[in-house]
Amino acid sequence: MDLAKQNGAQHVATKSSGLDGVVVADTALSEVDGERGRLIVGGHDIEALAGRVGFEDLCALLWTGALPDAATRSAIAEALAEGRLLAFEQIPSLGEALVAEDGSSALMACMAHLGARAAWRSEGKPAWVELARVTGAVATFAAAWARRRAGGAPIAPDKSLRHAADFLRMVRGAAAPEAAARALDAYLVTVADHGMNASTFTARVVASTGSDLVSAIVAAIGALKGPLHGGAPGPVLDMLDAIGEPSRAAAWITAELGAGRRIMGMGHRIYRVRDPRAAVLERAIAELERDGSAGAGARLALARATERAAETLLAERHRDRPLKANVEFYTAVLLDAAGLPRELFTPTFAVGRAAGWCAHVQEQRRAGRLIRPASRYVGPVPA
Ligand code: COA
Repeated sequence: MDLAKQNGAQHVATKSSGLDGVVVADTALSEVDGERGRLIVGGHDIEALAGRVGFEDLCALLWTGALPDAATRSAIAEALAEGRLLAFEQIPSLGEALVAEDGSSALMACMAHLGARAAWRSEGKPAWVELARVTGAVATFAAAWARRRAGGAPIAPDKSLRHAADFLRMVRGAAAPEAAARALDAYLVTVADHGMNASTFTARVVASTGSDLVSAIVAAIGALKGPLHGGAPGPVLDMLDAIGEPSRAAAWITAELGAGRRIMGMGHRIYRVRDPRAAVLERAIAELERDGSAGAGARLALARATERAAETLLAERHRDRPLKANVEFYTAVLLDAAGLPRELFTPTFAVGRAAGWCAHVQEQRRAGRLIRPASRYVGPVPA
């Protein structure tokens, strides 16, 4: 007896479906075309945004529906900085939260402490002020965790800096080179939103229950940290380190596949062609290389050779399922070249994606309907 159907379920998931192709929301935020390799964010192709507009502009696009004029840009920059500052003021009362072994767990604990403070004194202000403060706070907590881990003290935000540059400064302990800040800015724009990915869906589910924004973001960070979602770039860098030089890529990948392991940074649930964000990040790394960033060029060459080998070897094994580079592949190279430690890669993903999560929470609140799907009961039924 199919009890789910009896209860009026439209679509019955099977064990293997992973909700592929199930539409769970109407959104004006972003669209992923997996067949053509196209990502549209707020009506713009990602190639027209990354490296061309800053993270503040992308936030405006997601939160207000349009790229900003100068006044809105500086108001958003100010609200992001307020969020960084709110989080910094919170650090002395965080207890053990910043000591967690993994950065995403620390981020979840710290963000949970933020509670309703982001909404503080936002009455009469645009709705995006709360979104900006929460997004800003993620950067401070992530940077503070990295500093603690490296044996240093957290560094106070500088509200005169753009979000990407200040995040990098708070991590590195000194002003970041302009080229590195630009590359990180391009990265944050690239990853800010990406359709109904697992962490965004998580944020929307929490928002749909009427819960608060911070709870939605904490839950989303939990979903992001998994290796099948945002946890891949650290392992990608480990892989490149293990391969060492381009000529060894094919043999190394053959051995990994032979041992039944997945190649991190390859494959995607939606894309059947190369993830367009990989190309955008590759371009940003090449610019970093032109600016003379130590190591960026050699790593980029190694990454390209590894991608070619992985693509060829995966195509031999999966003739009907194209498995190409995803965003995480070049994320690893870019964040490393920008001077971020690999343990901070996933929290850095959250720094950018927080903008999208917040926008989806806002959109979900407007939709105003509890997300409550069905399951198919396969257990015993009492006689
Ligand atoms: N390396 C080796 N094999 C891979 C692979 C990878 N990176 N990605 C998928 N495959 C194989 C699977 O083993 C499976 O093989 P099978 O049919 O013989 O069992 C087949 O391709 C289909 O994989 P499936 O798990 O159904 O795909 P999915 O849509 O659920 O997975 C990912 C998408 C992203 C989870 C998957 O490609 C992956 O694990 N990639 C590595 C992690 C990563 O880069 N994550 C970041 C995503 S942005």
